[in-house]
Amino acid sequence: MIFTGSDILSVEQFDRSDIEHIFQVADAMAPYALRRRVTRVLEGAILGNMFFEPSTRTRISFGCAFNLLGGEVRETTGFESSAIAKGESLYDTARVLSGFSDVICMRHPQEGSVAEFAAASRVPVLNGGDGANEHPSQALLDLYTIRKELASKDRGIDGLRIALIGDLKYGRTVHSLCKLLRHFKNVQVTLVSPAELAMPENIVEEMRSVGHNVVVTEDLTQSISNVDIAYSTRIQEERFASKEEADMYRGRFRLNQSIYTQYCEPNTVIMHPLPRDSRADANELDNDLNQNPNLAIFRQADNGVLVRMALFALVLDVVDQVDKCARDV
Ligand code: CP
Repeated sequence: MIFTGSDILSVEQFDRSDIEHIFQVADAMAPYALRRRVTRVLEGAILGNMFFEPSTRTRISFGCAFNLLGGEVRETTGFESSAIAKGESLYDTARVLSGFSDVICMRHPQEGSVAEFAAASRVPVLNGGDGANEHPSQALLDLYTIRKELASKDRGIDGLRIALIGDLKYGRTVHSLCKLLRHFKNVQVTLVSPAELAMPENIVEEMRSVGHNVVVTEDLTQSISNVDIAYSTRIQEERFASKEEADMYRGRFRLNQSIYTQYCEPNTVIMHPLPRDSRADANELDNDLNQNPNLAIFRQADNGVLVRMALFALVLDVVDQVDKCARDV
């Protein structure tokens, strides 16, 4: 794809060479993310960071990524602090805010809303999560993390064995990740969820159509016994009709050190897009895993800055300028 000036709304936009290009650019961002070098390549540029749903990682890491490239960030968080609360349309909001910004990141609870916003925007828009639909930057950083974690074992993404565990119906990160995995070879995907929270059938079929071995199960311990990656997700309570309905599924698939030791192969990597729900009745990834060296959840979050820097550099067409505008610290 041509990145320059493009919206990033769905992982459907990428083919394998696009994914590998993003990862190469992300690798090159490491000295800047680690504060060993400083670049001012986006000096004078403004990111409009608009988050109409709660976020810690995506909002802050998009902002940090833009700052690390030398740009400035202006934020709106929550409908209540936006004129949308007074009835302003997404169209008008997009027309106005895109006059103030060079690029916009947006999270919104409704599926398709970020695409609707982007259609009216005069600058590129990056999807920070639209309802239960997609979370493209998260899926890219997840796959980037898988690539890095497996590289330390002399492995690539082709031939990956992964278990996706939890709320696979409403979890947008796993939807996007499965779509990305279609571009790799011989992937074995085990989908572990309550039947009511299963991965949408079209996504399962798309993976099978490229030859991936997809197993659907409710058996956690068996499914994590022969995988490279155990990727856990939270019950997405905010997508349920009521807390009581979400409570029916909370805590169904818990991974802790004892289960890990008993069932996982040595060096199985544990991932989670975060936030993990650490309330006692949920606790899908127990704190007793925190000292496990294969717990990659915080490396995963760190990688988000690299991948988001890469997306900004590509969309704003400054990849070749990053080093030229840099100095050592
Ligand atoms: N992974 C993720 O989207 O986290 P936040 O909700 O904190 O942005």
